[in-house]
Amino acid sequence: MQEAVERATRKIVDREEETIERLMRVAGFRDNETGNHVARMGQYAGLLGGLLGMSAAEQRLLSLATPMHDIGKVSTPDSILLKPGALTPEEWVIMRQHTTVGHSILEGSSSAILQLAAEIALRHHERWDGSGYPGGLSGETIPVAARIAALCDVFDALLSVRPYKKAWSTDDAFAEIERSSGTHFDPAIAKPFLAARERVLSIERRFHDSVAA
Ligand SMILES: [Fe+2]
Repeated sequence: MQEAVERATRKIVDREEETIERLMRVAGFRDNETGNHVARMGQYAGLLGGLLGMSAAEQRLLSLATPMHDIGKVSTPDSILLKPGALTPEEWVIMRQHTTVGHSILEGSSSAILQLAAEIALRHHERWDGSGYPGGLSGETIPVAARIAALCDVFDALLSVRPYKKAWSTDDAFAEIERSSGTHFDPAIAKPFLAARERVLSIERRFHDSVAA
């Protein structure tokens, strides 16, 4: 009996993970970012959760929820999402809406993964000093999962090739995280991330983009 229940539960969990993975594939068709970007972000977030003393279950939630942070970009027009040059102020208004749209796609679920993902989608562009969006929240009023996602997102973006930039070196990317600690990022999250440099880089190598995106 016990075994049958465990097997059935495992099946439900597997299906939820599969559905999330397929949702991410949908999002991937709209964006230049590779699937590896969201995979790495999930891994970095899980690692950070562990470094901050979270349980294995919490780390798993973080690593599954974080990759959905930009799901709201499905609503961003191509002319803005794929624009090679700088966005105009009007275009930025629309670009920023991916946070609130992402939240509205993910909110209201009974799934703990989707609840966390909704919070991350809404708050991953908030900054520690209050200069982010959409709410201008600061410090610990920003949910910790969103503070973690913000750092992982920026770090991975720095190491990636984008239409408007080359990939940064790992040294430069770590230096930028250090420089932005206390302004963009929570220092209590930046510090263990910087200290775990080798573990961060082993994730980067494991999910490395074989072709420049
Ligand atoms: Fe975003």
